[in-house]
Amino acid sequence: MAVTPRTLARWKQENRPIVALTATDYAFARVLDGAGIDLILVGDSLAMVALGHTTTLPLTLDDMIHHAKAVCRGVTRALVVVDLPFLSYQTDSAQAIASAGRILKETGAAAVKLEGGYPRLIETVTRLVEIGIPVMGHVGLTPQSIHQTGYRQQGQDPAAEAKILAEAIALQDAGVFCLVLEHISSDLTHKISQRITIPTIGIGAGLQCDGQILVTHDLLGFSERQPPFAKVYADLQATIAAAAREYMTDVFADAKTSHPILPDVES
Ligand code: KIV
Repeated sequence: MAVTPRTLARWKQENRPIVALTATDYAFARVLDGAGIDLILVGDSLAMVALGHTTTLPLTLDDMIHHAKAVCRGVTRALVVVDLPFLSYQTDSAQAIASAGRILKETGAAAVKLEGGYPRLIETVTRLVEIGIPVMGHVGLTPQSIHQTGYRQQGQDPAAEAKILAEAIALQDAGVFCLVLEHISSDLTHKISQRITIPTIGIGAGLQCDGQILVTHDLLGFSERQPPFAKVYADLQATIAAAAREYMTDVFADAKTSHPILPDVES
């Protein structure tokens, strides 16, 4: 059975944790879906992990659609959610509807995610939900605002904490089906969990969430800047490098080259 926003709401009632990861392409998506991951996010972190940018800001809507199409081709069960990239939704509701509409129509994904909870965005979420587009919220550390916030834990003073709590409540009231809580204290996560009834999915936000999400490249040891809260479950970077070296060794051996040694990585 395909996972839907309603499935997530039911699992929250049943106390069944939601397990989410990001994917950027068909191959990863197919493996993660086959492994039973419930929610696959085509996150705008792909700007860094797949495209080599230093922030999420350069990513375009066309970039996201290109990657999301590939991810959707690899998924049969998981709920696929696609990030609305920077400046594809912040201008006004009409821009957000056009961008989210393109994502749903062109990729086959079932939902979009956007960052923040300031008043004009709440209006936008209301409009998107009204016309039938499932929206996932995202508060706490919101990387599209990185030049204001830096990559550090958010909500560290009472005013900042109250703002994040208010955003979470406003997003719920506007109709988001689920909320990502990124890099906030477990104490604040606890306060949010006591005030809202929609499922929460945490990343560096403690264990009081209804589910957890990680960037798959962090989980697999690929990342150049590993977040402090992301456990490395496999060192694929080393595995791939070793396989490439073994292949080089074979090519040199098979070629019966007069070149006496395998070049080292610098040559
Ligand atoms: O872009 C992304 O990968 C995300 C996750 C960190 C939740 O938004």
